[in-house]
Amino acid sequence: MTAPALIELCGVSKRYGSRVVLDDVSFALPRNATTVLVGPSGAGKSTVLRLLVGLARPDSGRILVDGADVSKLNRDGWMALRKRVGMLFQEGALFNSMSVLDNVAFPLRHHTRLPRDEREQVALSKLAAVGIGEELARRTPDTLSGGQRKRVGLARALALDPEIVLFDEPTAGLDPVTSAAIDALIVDVGARLKTTFLVITHDIHSCAAIAQHVGLLLEGRLLVFGHRDRVLQSGDPTVRQFFDRRAEGPIRIA
Ligand SMILES: Nc1ncnc2c1ncn2[C@@H]1O[C@H](COP(=O)(O)OP(=O)(O)O)[C@@H](O)[C@H]1O
Ligand SMILES: [Mg+2]
Repeated sequence: MTAPALIELCGVSKRYGSRVVLDDVSFALPRNATTVLVGPSGAGKSTVLRLLVGLARPDSGRILVDGADVSKLNRDGWMALRKRVGMLFQEGALFNSMSVLDNVAFPLRHHTRLPRDEREQVALSKLAAVGIGEELARRTPDTLSGGQRKRVGLARALALDPEIVLFDEPTAGLDPVTSAAIDALIVDVGARLKTTFLVITHDIHSCAAIAQHVGLLLEGRLLVFGHRDRVLQSGDPTVRQFFDRRAEGPIRIA
């Protein structure tokens, strides 16, 4: 018997008032690979992430983690689940009142019994893994560039060695060169850790650069979900229209 998917959405719908934000969305997230959920602004991408971390609840359908329905989780169950899921927030969500090092060590303080010096060692190693050295680690996030702050956010998301990392628009607001560097970092860290990544983006060039699997969300509907080349080369007119219209240059299909 094959193991159940780490995360599976089964017919998930979500409304805010009369507005349908997600309409019968189903997919199973491939393990140990990077999946990109791409779609224009307002498509419902962030809502998917909010559902996955329990910040919103579906109106219908089920969300399964390791085959277990998350709607049945109690508070302790959600705490245990959140430990297994790292999240890189769109705005970074770093605290400027503490050092970069303390930001990355923060989840370790809340979820482990490691003593302070060991927490710092773990935090420094996570920072090193994303290209942030000790000198930057002693500074506060507001003294760093946008790209450096993204790296710190990723280090913090990795602090507890999660099984899944969720990324909300990791390259939004970055210049093209910095965006490409963050894409390369996601590919590099993904290949090294072999962790399950779910990346939400409206940027089709990022999508093409980092995805092994792609889902296209349009107005709350998942139009297609599958291996990246199959999706990016799809002949479906609506899928083509999205990728062609939004491409400022040719999409790289390596
Ligand atoms: N808490 C909320 N209350 C009301 N409407 C919301 C809420 N969250 C999101 N929406 C609406 O749902 C739609 C999808 O939002 P979102 O998931 O953030 O899209 P995306 O991340 O793809 O840009 C948008 O029209 C947004 O205005
Ligand atoms: Mg969003």
